[in-house]
Amino acid sequence: MNVLLLGSGGREHALAWKLAQSPALEKLWAAPGNPGIAEFAELADIAVSDHRSIIDFCLRHSINFVVIGPEAPLVAGLGDNLRTMGILVFGPNKAAAQLEGSKSFTKDLCARENIPTAAFAKAESRDGALAALDDFGIPVVIKADGLAAGKGVTVAMTREEAEEAILAIFSDAGASVVIEEFLEGEEASLFLLTDGTTILPFGSAQDHKRVGDGDVGPNTGGMGAYSPARVLTPELEARAIETIVRPTIEAMARMGAPYSGILYAGLMLTADGPKLIEYNARFGDPECQVLMLRLEEDLLELMAATAKGELAGRAAPHFSNDTALTVVMAARGYPGTPESGGAICGIAAAEVGGALVFQAGTRMEGDALIANGGRVLNVTASGKNVREAQAAAYQAVDAIDFPTGFFRRDIGWREVVREAP
Ligand code: AMP
Ligand code: GLY
Repeated sequence: MNVLLLGSGGREHALAWKLAQSPALEKLWAAPGNPGIAEFAELADIAVSDHRSIIDFCLRHSINFVVIGPEAPLVAGLGDNLRTMGILVFGPNKAAAQLEGSKSFTKDLCARENIPTAAFAKAESRDGALAALDDFGIPVVIKADGLAAGKGVTVAMTREEAEEAILAIFSDAGASVVIEEFLEGEEASLFLLTDGTTILPFGSAQDHKRVGDGDVGPNTGGMGAYSPARVLTPELEARAIETIVRPTIEAMARMGAPYSGILYAGLMLTADGPKLIEYNARFGDPECQVLMLRLEEDLLELMAATAKGELAGRAAPHFSNDTALTVVMAARGYPGTPESGGAICGIAAAEVGGALVFQAGTRMEGDALIANGGRVLNVTASGKNVREAQAAAYQAVDAIDFPTGFFRRDIGWREVVREAP
């Protein structure tokens, strides 16, 4: 198969690494890619928003299969456009990607299907939103509707904070807001491969969204992650699939928008059982990096079977019992204004002990590797348990010379506490 992988982050570097191991792969292309991905794929300088150029490229290079990494092209309907041209795609169509693209679409679906999730109200105006606040206690959660890359959410600890968040959202014309009951519990992410009918569990993970050690400071796209999430026991996972995921997939099929691809369910494990926080229509970043380290099957073959609607009768994909852990090295200033242009050395030294350094925001300048984005490297390792994985990942981190970068020292702490004798 000739495969085009779309995206340019650490998630796509990990996917490229795993796809490259498939005997079914003839040639891997990536667009726009990054210097890490270039080790496994030939890069094409095409933006993922440029659907016409992507389709032209596929036709010119006999691409049989397109793997879409990030959410924006999925929500924009790139999947539909490629499928119209007869090209096989990993990733949902536009209508199905609404599960990520529109919080109110997902909340309405949950309400119709009795899917456990936080109580919510929608408002299209500032005054409507302020009035709706009265129906909720404190803390309360305020979310901008639409794609916000995880940044459009405020967990307000006071009424004033909630009002400020609402005012900020309605400073944009045409905004709308979802107000949610605050759910208490531990968060875990569950991944499912589905062709629209069959659902196969595809591993679990937990990430650290806050920028600072001890889970403090502003939210980020994720400063690190580990897999599996042992707090999501087999019993809880089965319950989440039966009460949340299966009714969702069945409802999408009934409404003529079958979901094909990877579904990422962000769950809150509450005293009343798992509740849905949000869906994403793609792999998590950096959760994908730890899942790929543990996956013991041919990723390309699994993705192609998903895209062709051929998952029926298959066993759930097999993952190693080891724990994988990734530490994000970010550029100083992230998540605000990251410093660009810092030099990075020592990747080869970091990988000597078996760790893998996936690249996210990097570029080459001559022979030098340079930081070029907020999250720059994902230093990833595995071990028999989280302690071993953590030790291996940080040993690799310490071999990297990236003076304008920073990272958290405590990725996996919750799991380490749980594992302690
Ligand atoms: P989201 O973008 O919907 O994933 O929200 C970002 C983060 O906000 C989540 O990972 C949670 O930590 C938190 N969050 C979102 N919704 C709720 C909720 N209803 N209750 C508690 N925390 C929430
Ligand atoms: N790490 C969170 C996400 O990919 O949405």
